[in-house]
Amino acid sequence: MELPLNLKHIPPGKYQENRFEKIHNVTAISEAEGARWVAEEIATHIRSCIDRPYILGLATGSSPIRVYQYLVQMHREEGLSFKNVITFNLDEYFGIPSNDLQSYHHFMHEHLFDHIDIDPANIHIPKGELNVSSVRTYCQGYDEKIASLGGLDFQLLGIGRTGHIGFNEPGSHRNSATRLISLDPVTRADAAKDFNGMDKVPAKAITMGIDTIMNAKRIVLLAWGQHKAPIVSRTIEGTMTEVVPATFLQEHNNTTCLLDQESSASLTRFNTPWLVKDCDWTDSLKKKAIVWLCGKTSKSILKLTQRDYNEHGLSELLATAGQPYDLNIWMFNQLQKTITGWPGGKPNFSDENRPERAEPAQKKCLIFSPHPDDDVISMGATFARLIDQGHEVHVAYQTSGNIAVSDEDALRFLEVFETTFQGEKNLKTLKKELLSKEVNNMASPMVRTLKGAIRRSECMGAARFLKLPLSQLHFMDLPFYETGTIKKKAPSMTDLNQTIALIEELKPHQIYAAGDLADPHGTHRICLEILFKALEKLKKEPYMKDCWVWLYRGAWQEWDIHEIEMAVPISPDQVAQKRNSILYHQSQKDRVMFQGEDNREFWLRAEERNRDTALVYNELGMAEYESMEAFRRYHY
Ligand code: F6R
Repeated sequence: MELPLNLKHIPPGKYQENRFEKIHNVTAISEAEGARWVAEEIATHIRSCIDRPYILGLATGSSPIRVYQYLVQMHREEGLSFKNVITFNLDEYFGIPSNDLQSYHHFMHEHLFDHIDIDPANIHIPKGELNVSSVRTYCQGYDEKIASLGGLDFQLLGIGRTGHIGFNEPGSHRNSATRLISLDPVTRADAAKDFNGMDKVPAKAITMGIDTIMNAKRIVLLAWGQHKAPIVSRTIEGTMTEVVPATFLQEHNNTTCLLDQESSASLTRFNTPWLVKDCDWTDSLKKKAIVWLCGKTSKSILKLTQRDYNEHGLSELLATAGQPYDLNIWMFNQLQKTITGWPGGKPNFSDENRPERAEPAQKKCLIFSPHPDDDVISMGATFARLIDQGHEVHVAYQTSGNIAVSDEDALRFLEVFETTFQGEKNLKTLKKELLSKEVNNMASPMVRTLKGAIRRSECMGAARFLKLPLSQLHFMDLPFYETGTIKKKAPSMTDLNQTIALIEELKPHQIYAAGDLADPHGTHRICLEILFKALEKLKKEPYMKDCWVWLYRGAWQEWDIHEIEMAVPISPDQVAQKRNSILYHQSQKDRVMFQGEDNREFWLRAEERNRDTALVYNELGMAEYESMEAFRRYHY
């Protein structure tokens, strides 16, 4: 299929720009755009395959979900039929029945098969419930069936952080066939959120082999999001090795890696473009290159010499931007100007070289917090400073965060109520549910209300600790979140209107919001999209001229140094204060339900990350601070 214009590609390795790339890849503007492109390619193949069945290899996991949504939409709206399609899935967890909610059988039916006209006899997913003694014959049969149909016409792939395709973990042989494997600990940690704890993730799985995959006539590998960037660049630019099984795709002659901006960010042509092409030296790129050069040379900015620039491929930057001395001074000043202990602006002082305006001296600040603890985790110290410096601070908790409270915690609170309100009928029903409920089963609305209330009380505890009046907390409980499961609804007009109404009511001078797009379930991303839409709608209102938007990054990632536009230093005492405010969120401590890929508790992550930012600033030649919170301005 002809690629849409904006996805036109450069053949791998053909030009200077992509000379390190060994697999054809395309960067889409977004996951949605990329997914639609793949779905269209699959649909075109299915429609043009008329004299025999079309053999389609499918994947599970988060990466292909949008592709399946588009295929279902094409089936419903354009009459795309799957009657002539035979599917083979890559893998299944071993030892779990196909009707288990976490099985890939369940996943495939939920996302695709239940919504299209495929003949159930044409669906093949490896069986997870087998006697160990029958596994070998079963797997051979799986490969033979594929071969007898002439092989896979198309194989859709995701990629794991270990570099697995299917569940071919590091160490898998190039010639491996369908077989039983042990899952890598990293893969099991990634699956822990679905199974509510790593100990419940199956240790083994059945997977199509590398050889089976490589025999497919066409392969498209999908990777979305920043957390995939390191493995994507190793796969595309690294040496072919069993340690990263996806690198075997370098040998396949019809593979495309379909990426988004975030997952392709570590490819040389995006990460360090000056190494492979002539650059348009924007201020942002200059900053990025100089921070990179400092890292390479282990020098601070003002110590960089002409030779450092030349030896590291940055002579072009010097040629366009002037002497190293001038460039170094410029960079030093740029970074210095980001540092302020006055996040709401310093009254009665010139704001020429400060990130925020001095006027109005007392600002109204609205902090949007996607989950009930992102405010303190991500900007707890800045939050406290804004209050201490006399600004009117409001916090809008965008979602209830109720699914992240464990049944054990809910039960504990219930038992406390019970001693107070003995005999209440509702309490008995709630208790019965919490005692009998399987962890992964959806909670009833009543249990969800209880869990939401637990999180609210934690926010109130933290607010009291920071001396913020409780009337300045706004619990939005945006409806897109209220599914009772990890899977969220698409945001609606109600989500948008609630956000618009709050901004209209408060008319803030500053909005702080999570620009952190790496949270495991995508809640931050949706909250940000809603806010951006609200700003778009409101931007012509006169009061919005005075409203600046600052983005913080949450528990999951930090801004790169060259992106930071406001860095708020934190003293050792303020670090302790921030830690205490995070610790009010007891339900998100110890056994955190949704930990993501990082095993550290939230307070520790925040602390280490803020300390690292201060450290890098210091290494670049700035003053030595204990810790720092970082923000980037969003212009709407
Ligand atoms: C799924 C599979 C795996 C996933 C990979 C990425 O059938 O075989 O290789 O594609 O683990 O998972 P997500 O897409 O959830 O990041």
